[in-house]
Amino acid sequence: NEFRIAAIPADGIGREVVAAGRAVLDALQAEGRFALSWEEFPWGSDYYAEHGVMMPEDGLDVLADFDAIYFGAVGWPTVPDHVSLWGLRLRICQSFDQWANVRPVTFLPGVESPLRKADGADLDWVVVRENSEGEYAGLGGRNLAARGPGGEVAVQSALFTEVGCERIMRFAFDLARTRSRRKVSSVTKSNAQQYGMVLWDDVFRRVAADYPDVATESVLVDAMAAKFVLRPEDLSVVVASNLNADILSDLGSALAGSLGLAASANLNPEGRFPSMFEPVHGSAPDIAGQGAANPVGAIGSAALMLAHLGLEAEAERIERAVAAATAQGVRTRDVGGSASTDEVTAAVVANL
Ligand code: NAI
Ligand code: MG
Repeated sequence: NEFRIAAIPADGIGREVVAAGRAVLDALQAEGRFALSWEEFPWGSDYYAEHGVMMPEDGLDVLADFDAIYFGAVGWPTVPDHVSLWGLRLRICQSFDQWANVRPVTFLPGVESPLRKADGADLDWVVVRENSEGEYAGLGGRNLAARGPGGEVAVQSALFTEVGCERIMRFAFDLARTRSRRKVSSVTKSNAQQYGMVLWDDVFRRVAADYPDVATESVLVDAMAAKFVLRPEDLSVVVASNLNADILSDLGSALAGSLGLAASANLNPEGRFPSMFEPVHGSAPDIAGQGAANPVGAIGSAALMLAHLGLEAEAERIERAVAAATAQGVRTRDVGGSASTDEVTAAVVANL
């Protein structure tokens, strides 16, 4: 039970929350049931300022030898966002074929949500995001037909393959079978986007036939946004394309109380490459360096990493410790408390 973990805190609060997640993992491994050997990489926007690239040329080769990657967040006002994102996070996700992005929407005791009061009924669903193609395939270009000043044209295409659709849907159905509510909701905008998203719908119908024990629905993304707010109890597993799931999962975590609560796993389910675990949120320049970042999303991502490494019981202990800490009222500002990142982290460790 020894694992090599690459930590990439990157930018802004990414550094603060990665430190928090590591502190929780280190407290747990001190009990001796597993061992993590960490290596931390200083890649990100500061690295870019010095070297002109977000990560070194051989960075992917270096990462390939690790059992998992623990990531903070990338993006800082000194570097254009599309450069920083493509230069680091998307580069890793795409090169390591991390085609399944799992984003549970977790409602915690003591955290008030717009959907339910702090002591209200349980809600829980998980967004499964196609993480390798779709709207983030990187296809397109600018200046395709510049028609003089003010006439630039840009094209941004979405890529959908039958293989890509089918594998993410099977992943979603398999996940649904592990949950008390066996249901998969598929999200598209296939009324307006008549090629890729219609292919998605076709594949969804075909795959669903192999899972007669799992309930299904197909919902347009605009209607699904409303459903997240109005009928969340009707959801269990929500599977969607790269862009749609990106938006819906931020909505889901905001509905649970804060973007800072949401954890995610970027999985290469075949295990050919390391998978990457990171909070859903970004680098939050508006609160970076203040010790105010909510570490719960990053700590939850650490739990997802342990579960991926086969340490399910340890992962559950982290999740219970987080719930115990928020129930005790130890919460950061974004969820109505006044505790610092370190205080929340210490409370989680104390509740392990
Ligand atoms: P953001 O997620 O960084 O922040 C949005 C809002 O949520 C801010 O008001 C922030 O203070 C708050 N927030 C986020 N995480 C929080 C936490 N843990 N605790 C308390 N409050 C939290 O998104 P934004 O502002 O759109 O992007 C900032 C930078 O992050 C940009 O450069 C963007 O490209 C990058 N980004 C990176 C991601 C990644 O590395 N996976 C994901 C999303 C954005
Ligand atoms: Mg996002």
